[in-house]
Amino acid sequence: MTPLPQAGRALGRLVVVGLGLIGGSFAKGLREKGLFGEVVGFDLDPQSRRLAVEQGVVDRCETDLAAACRAADVIQLAVPILAMEKLLAELARLDLGNAVLTDVGSAKGNVVRAAGEAFGEMPARFVPGHPIAGSERSGVEAADGGLFRRHKVILTPLASTDGEALALVDRLWRELGADVEHMEVEHHDQVLAATSHLPHLLAFGLVDSLAKRSENLEIFRYAAGGFRDFTRIAGSDPVMWHDIFLANRDAVLRTLDAFRGDLDALREAIDSGDGHQLLGVFTRARVAREHFGKILARRAYVDSVQANGDLVFLAQPGGRVSGSIRVPGDKSISHRSIVLGSLAEGTTEIDGFLEGEDALATLQAFRDMGVVIEGPHHGRVIIHGVGLHGLKAPPGPLYLGNSGTSMRLLSGLLAAQPFDSVLTGDESLSKRPMGRIAEPLRQMGAQIETAADGRPPLSIRGGQRLQGLNYAMPMASAQVKSCLLLAGLYAAGNTSVTEPAPTRDHTERMLRGFGYPLAVDGATVTVEPGHRLRACAIEVPADISSAAFFLVAASIAEGSELLLRHVGVNPTRTGVIDILRLMGADITLENPRDVGGEPVADIRVRAARLQGIEIPRHLVPLAIDEFPVLFIAAAVASGRTVLRGAEELRVKESDRIQVMADGLLALGVKSEATADGIVIEGGNLGGGEVYSHGDHRIAMAFSVAALRASAPIRIHDCANVATSFPNFLALAAEVGIRVSEEGAS
Ligand code: S3P
Repeated sequence: MTPLPQAGRALGRLVVVGLGLIGGSFAKGLREKGLFGEVVGFDLDPQSRRLAVEQGVVDRCETDLAAACRAADVIQLAVPILAMEKLLAELARLDLGNAVLTDVGSAKGNVVRAAGEAFGEMPARFVPGHPIAGSERSGVEAADGGLFRRHKVILTPLASTDGEALALVDRLWRELGADVEHMEVEHHDQVLAATSHLPHLLAFGLVDSLAKRSENLEIFRYAAGGFRDFTRIAGSDPVMWHDIFLANRDAVLRTLDAFRGDLDALREAIDSGDGHQLLGVFTRARVAREHFGKILARRAYVDSVQANGDLVFLAQPGGRVSGSIRVPGDKSISHRSIVLGSLAEGTTEIDGFLEGEDALATLQAFRDMGVVIEGPHHGRVIIHGVGLHGLKAPPGPLYLGNSGTSMRLLSGLLAAQPFDSVLTGDESLSKRPMGRIAEPLRQMGAQIETAADGRPPLSIRGGQRLQGLNYAMPMASAQVKSCLLLAGLYAAGNTSVTEPAPTRDHTERMLRGFGYPLAVDGATVTVEPGHRLRACAIEVPADISSAAFFLVAASIAEGSELLLRHVGVNPTRTGVIDILRLMGADITLENPRDVGGEPVADIRVRAARLQGIEIPRHLVPLAIDEFPVLFIAAAVASGRTVLRGAEELRVKESDRIQVMADGLLALGVKSEATADGIVIEGGNLGGGEVYSHGDHRIAMAFSVAALRASAPIRIHDCANVATSFPNFLALAAEVGIRVSEEGAS
């Protein structure tokens, strides 16, 4: 690595050729850092030279290039891109000693070419660079030493570039606070053609096209929103941009031609009244920025504000719970409504859809496969189904964030499609076992590759003819069952899945709701291929797994009474009610009804004295997602609670047994994690620091615990609460649980 000076010791001489905004800012920033003994400027314009010295951008200026570059350690070339050729030819005639050359041009291919021509070959100590920063202002008078802070700088070294020179340039930009990346020249030019050059071309072109027609005066009078943004971009420096398009000709033309094709398709859609095509483009485009942001950060589908760093919940001790609330829509049913709605023929309208990040991951995956989906807007989603054989190959890997349900359900479906697909997810999802679906799917004839130990990503080879299967699941998993039933819709022959214990049956109920026949015989469900799904209306009930936090909250906080409205009480999901009742909870179901094939009720819960119990094994799969908060109930109950047969908890969004045991210990509760469960000695809860390990349900469980704690509980890593319960904090506050984001006013 190039020795950069220790604090106080200077590097020698920096020469900046071209004292505009970028060159001036580079010079000024490094001069302020005191990294070089001297910063020398060169510019043909006397005014710029004078200002540069007056404003402390450089120590001095030279009027002769040879004099400026004498004994330089680093020479930064910051002239307009088309002036580069001439400058490089002049530099090639000078003795530059061991100086490192670098530049800031917005296109790199032409700079590298010009340098090669001028010097006979690309000098090894020339490091091509491009800071992606700018300002509405230009000229040395706008120079700002902080201009590059938190901006990307792309360096495009060649194989022949000297490593030491590259390291030095890299470190100079980092000293200025930039985020430096290295890229190949061609790749840089292609990426920039798409992200920067084409949008500028469109802005210049559109504004001029409208402006040159006098009848369009009105447009400028009423310019607002969209058009105003175009005029802002079109206000950029014309000379600089004319240079860029000439310099990056080939890459710009490729991007422009692809765009012209898409624009023609839009024109055609408008002309032929093809609203479906338009909706498809617009609904995909609307969420594109957010979607790609999530993929790039490799995080769960969580709000970008929350996802930055460690989101801490601070829960204040004590309180009483009261009121009447409706928690958000059921996560499992929301996922399935997107899957089956997309595969149906006709338009499916969904109300009460959970706008949580997991269900949105499924929604986006189907958009990526060409399904036009409107919304969600206040829980309403409209799906223009494509039929069982209408999915299209996605443009790239399907990114499923934190959502295990999305990955497992989709695998079954994708194994039977004519196209290849790749399924990826965030850090937590990437650790979860997928062998449980890959194995039986392979038995059906699917071709699936996983990473080591059956973990994601999954690569699924399309075009396989699947065979029906008789499968006895080794574990009680609704996700595995659903995955195989979805594959079975496409297989030759029947597919039967037998479960070792009852698991949620939303897939079966919803398939029937869409008119797809299936047979249930005891623990075995069978699908036959060859039928069709017909679009229908779906009303998603409130999620009992989200209601569970409030069931426990109202049970443990003295003097509480709470009504939870319109909760799904499918018997395969009500284990939490059974377990709490066995512990002595006061829970009543009111107004039971059937909503679209799912049982629904209002649930009233009053505070009660809870006792520890041995949790019956048969209730484990029926309460599988509710254990984190049930452990809180156990922690404040009198006596001991024992859970066995729940090894599945170790492979959820976190190892829920260990993470809860650690958290309970931190709060002073005696608990012992076992291989397949936990033993909790009920008692008093203290306050303290706990870690959710990115697990939404653990974060919410400890929020509820504070109701009985003697001091505040700080809960780390809570951003993923948005995966299943986006408005948890608001609803908690509404009923009297005092938990909020730390630092939020
Ligand atoms: C789900 C099934 C359960 C559950 C998960 C959602 C579903 O997982 O834990 O949150 O929607 O099918 P398993 O089926 O893997 O136990």
